[in-house]
Amino acid sequence: MEFLKGFLKHPRAVGAVLPSSVHLANELLRHVDWKTTRALAEIGPGTGPITQSILEQRHKTTVFFAVELDRQFVKLLQSRFPKADIVHADARELRRLCDSRHIQHLDALISGLPWAVFPSDLQRNLLAAVLDSLGPKGKFSTFAYIHGLWLPAGIRFRCLLNECFHSVETSPIVWKNAPPAIVYHCQKE
Ligand SMILES: C[S@@+](CC[C@H](N)C(=O)[O-])C[C@H]1O[C@@H](n2cnc3c(N)ncnc32)[C@H](O)[C@@H]1O
Repeated sequence: MEFLKGFLKHPRAVGAVLPSSVHLANELLRHVDWKTTRALAEIGPGTGPITQSILEQRHKTTVFFAVELDRQFVKLLQSRFPKADIVHADARELRRLCDSRHIQHLDALISGLPWAVFPSDLQRNLLAAVLDSLGPKGKFSTFAYIHGLWLPAGIRFRCLLNECFHSVETSPIVWKNAPPAIVYHCQKE
């Protein structure tokens, strides 16, 4: 209900009517090597389905923080995960948020942002912040609903990923998610 309310208030920021499934969360985290990942962040956690999987899977030594723009979602996340570092901020501020935590670079970044509803300049500015905070071997994983893949903003986002990253791998369709989605696994260098 909280998620649906969030969508009704800010459809162009939330971009979905249902939270992600555990199957989509597992696909997003499939490339994370927890033994070597010292710092990981999540952008756009919403009500926290992916945050929950991260907190369950992460190594004790992995530093983690999540960045959410919607104040109501932040309150909910802070009460759901009282020990986690949940920040009320814009993901475009990622570099500053890393600096204030003495994180030189992120090893992995997981996104729940609804890229297909974002205009071109916002997509570019957010991806610039992502690249700026990731280390050279950094990994970035993000999802896209299959019904949005052929919309202009979906196509534009896919092209932008190719422009920004050394490699972009597309996962098989995660059918056990409403709506079904794919994950882009991107490698910086
Ligand atoms: C599609 S929801 C995803 C929620 C959750 N990750 C999931 O998979 O169920 C997108 C979330 O991104 C947040 N968001 C949108 N723009 C953002 C930004 N610039 N910085 C941080 N969060 C943002 C929205 O408030 C919303 O909670």
